[in-house]
Amino acid sequence: MTDDVLVVHGGTPLQGRIRVRGAKNLVSKAMVAALLGDSPSRLFDVPKIRDVEVVRGLLGLHGVKVTDGDDDGELVFDPANVESASTDQINVHAGSSRIPILFCGPLLHRLGHAFIPDLGGCHIGPRPIDFHLQALREFGATVDKTPEGLHLSAPNGLRGTKFALPYPSVGATEQVLLTAVMAEGVTELRNAAVEPEIIDLICILQKMGAIIKVHTDRVIEIQGVPKLHGYTHRPIPDRIEAASWAAAALATRGHVEVLGAEQADMMTFLNVFRSVGGEYEVTDARPPKLGHPGQEGGIRFWHPGGELNAVALETDVHPGFMTDWQQPLVVALTQARGLSIVHETVYEQRLGYTEALNSMGANIQVYRDCLGGTPCRFGRRNFKHSAVIAGPSKLHAADLVIPDLRAGFSHLIAALAAEGTSRVYGVDLINRGYEDFEAKLADLGAHVERP
Ligand code: EPZ
Repeated sequence: MTDDVLVVHGGTPLQGRIRVRGAKNLVSKAMVAALLGDSPSRLFDVPKIRDVEVVRGLLGLHGVKVTDGDDDGELVFDPANVESASTDQINVHAGSSRIPILFCGPLLHRLGHAFIPDLGGCHIGPRPIDFHLQALREFGATVDKTPEGLHLSAPNGLRGTKFALPYPSVGATEQVLLTAVMAEGVTELRNAAVEPEIIDLICILQKMGAIIKVHTDRVIEIQGVPKLHGYTHRPIPDRIEAASWAAAALATRGHVEVLGAEQADMMTFLNVFRSVGGEYEVTDARPPKLGHPGQEGGIRFWHPGGELNAVALETDVHPGFMTDWQQPLVVALTQARGLSIVHETVYEQRLGYTEALNSMGANIQVYRDCLGGTPCRFGRRNFKHSAVIAGPSKLHAADLVIPDLRAGFSHLIAALAAEGTSRVYGVDLINRGYEDFEAKLADLGAHVERP
């Protein structure tokens, strides 16, 4: 742990240009989808992050040959020899990611049984998997929970079903998609999540031969097919990483161009960014033409000088303000004049990191009430899920311990914005979802070092 520390000399605006690659929260699912094909799949623009390594390891254990392609960031998956793995081998990955739960449907189709280790991922609340298990049972799977993990089987195959999610969960929607595409008959999923990463996963499955209709009002209909083939796909860019760097530019009064950032997937973030007082400019990508080299698209984010404005916002499922945008932006909100309100409605315990910001001089109070907007699921359940941020506050350096991925990035931004030298412990966790973040910090002129 003591080796895993970054020394951050704060107070310098971030300036420069970085690039984001395929979205972590799509790429990992696309890798699982490759299990369903009867021929190789090819995925481009895969970031070098730990979640990708975990899924790569799990695919390898199940007989999928994963190789690096010719392009930087290209992975090739050959599922010709899918096989069972031993629980001991699989358990090596226990606690390292939440993606293994999505192996259920594909393994049941390919092998008739599946073993899923204890899940990991960020500690941002209890993160149950009840919707996943209920959906799998609806398809006809039997689920046996044991101390070592989940054993699933489908002795009679999987059949399409009509199912409504109690909440539009991203993971449970992906679970249903990855299971329904090869289940016998039609599946109708109501109250589905429709995040851009889900639509991109649907595009991948459609490329593989699936028949999926996205209706209005969160209804997705899937016509099962007996066989799918491999895909070739370039994923949507990582809109969470893009927003994280945008928030870092704002909090440090800097100017950062995020190549690869996509306006359409970030509309809600961009509206809030502008309301807070940040400026941005979108550059559209242009393909190369004779005599012109072409241009990579992206978004430039900057602090225009002067004061920032307080805002009220509520996190929500798409097309609302993403829960993963919340923590980086809150650091910038500590610099806004007045009272900002943040109502977290996706996770019940995602405001704990504000204590660290307070230890640096921020003035953030958290409340159990649903502040500033519509009542949510957590209002009557005693969770501190609303924050009031009074600003502007001068942030000073502190020793910080990173609690989870997105809060961790917000700690880093706070250290970069603060006067003085902070020590940020546990930074390795950031490698789970931010490719090369230390090199990117260096490119942006941040003064950081490993002791
Ligand atoms: C995905 O998590 C992302 N992770 C999260 O990003 C993201 O915050 C979240 O979606 C919301 O956008 C990945 O894609 C790997 P959910 P997921 O199921 O699918 C409750 C990051 O830092 N719920 O949409 O696990 C749950 O507790 C991560 O990149 C149940 O109650 O999120 C939560 O309150 C963090 N039972 C809500 O639904 C279930 O069975 C939404 O969770 C499943 C979920």
